[in-house]
Amino acid sequence: MQLITGISELVTNAAPASGADAPASGADGTTSAHPTAEVGRLNVVADAALIIDGERVAWSGPAAEAGAALAGLGAGDAETIDLGGKAVIPGFVDSHNHLVFAGDRSAEFAARMAGEKYSAGGIATTVAATRAATDEELEDNLVHLLDQARRQGTTTFEIKTGYGLTLDDEIRALRIINRHTEESTLIAAHVVPPEHKENPEAYVSLVIDEIIPAAAGQAKWIDVFCEKGAFDEDQTRRIIEAGKAAGMKPRLHANQLTDGGALKLGAELGCVSVDHATFASDDDLAVLAHAGTVVTLLPGVEFSTRQPYPDARRYLAAGVTLAIASDCNPGSCFTNSLPFCIALAVRDMHFTVDQAVWAATAGGAHALERTDVGHLGAGARADLVVLDAPSYRHLAYRPGVHLVERVLAAGELVADNRPRP
Ligand code: NIG
Ligand code: FE
Repeated sequence: MQLITGISELVTNAAPASGADAPASGADGTTSAHPTAEVGRLNVVADAALIIDGERVAWSGPAAEAGAALAGLGAGDAETIDLGGKAVIPGFVDSHNHLVFAGDRSAEFAARMAGEKYSAGGIATTVAATRAATDEELEDNLVHLLDQARRQGTTTFEIKTGYGLTLDDEIRALRIINRHTEESTLIAAHVVPPEHKENPEAYVSLVIDEIIPAAAGQAKWIDVFCEKGAFDEDQTRRIIEAGKAAGMKPRLHANQLTDGGALKLGAELGCVSVDHATFASDDDLAVLAHAGTVVTLLPGVEFSTRQPYPDARRYLAAGVTLAIASDCNPGSCFTNSLPFCIALAVRDMHFTVDQAVWAATAGGAHALERTDVGHLGAGARADLVVLDAPSYRHLAYRPGVHLVERVLAAGELVADNRPRP
């Protein structure tokens, strides 16, 4: 067992054991093993401690109660780590990533900053480079990006295919992804590849009749880029239904570039999350709130494409559950820093700090239907971030400053950014 103490603020995101004002968890470990359902409800414990048993949180609560909790757990000889007054938050749950790719599109980014518009067309550049790369090159790049993200506090990763766009290339991307996460997503319907430009329907058939059946059992999620220049609503519906029939759960890229019907379609198709939602009408939001569909906002995309930032206040007022993810990809947004995304979300999407921190942790867990991550109540996976700061608020208050000091995943130290002695 490990006892972590000296925590100035512990963000638990865990529902109190009983009563609105009860501590985050009791020594009897009765905290509900689910992240809180209310956006921004962090359930912060000041002067806190945390007990880890193997891969799981055994107890979290006020430091003054830690001794009794340890005794209750029958652990007299726990290894103690005293943080000396640092904030601890759950590891970030990054529910939207495109990390299996080769090539560089920094010139496209530079052109965009000089006035070019983002379009789905750039994806083809990455598709060509990805098809030409070896498995080893793709996996090395993926591992490098995961390591970077981990050092910035991400402990759960969703990863999509989508830069292969042939049967063999999509399946090999899944094979690589499945070696690194259980949150694997098939997005063979990312764009129509160049060889099918004259007959997009032939590609839709390839996706439905060959790629989805071959990916059955290898992808948890099915996703489609439903957008002008990618796939229309009818094609999206058919592809999502085929994925569901093959046992995959649905999610969608919706209303990133235009104000179409993709958000409502996502709700109708039972998508767990609709992502981007840069454009959303009041009616869209009412439908999503009613369906209980999570909306995943991607502040880094708006930043990197100079698109307008959606106003989170409007989404929350409509009753929608919000997640924040990075959408790390070589085109529309090449950041894998959730601290950066949180700072943008607060400054430019009008999240409160509490809402943004919740959305990048518990919100991501909701977007992936995970109850074991995104919170630090008893029973949660021991995924946590020690901040080089007294308060979690510093994540937005000190933008661009590397505040992630240490990261634990399943109770193991996976990143240590402290200066070497
Ligand atoms: O989520 N929108 C579609 N897919 C990615 C961008 C992919 C690319 O530009 O390479 C996204 O923004
Ligand atoms: Fe994406």
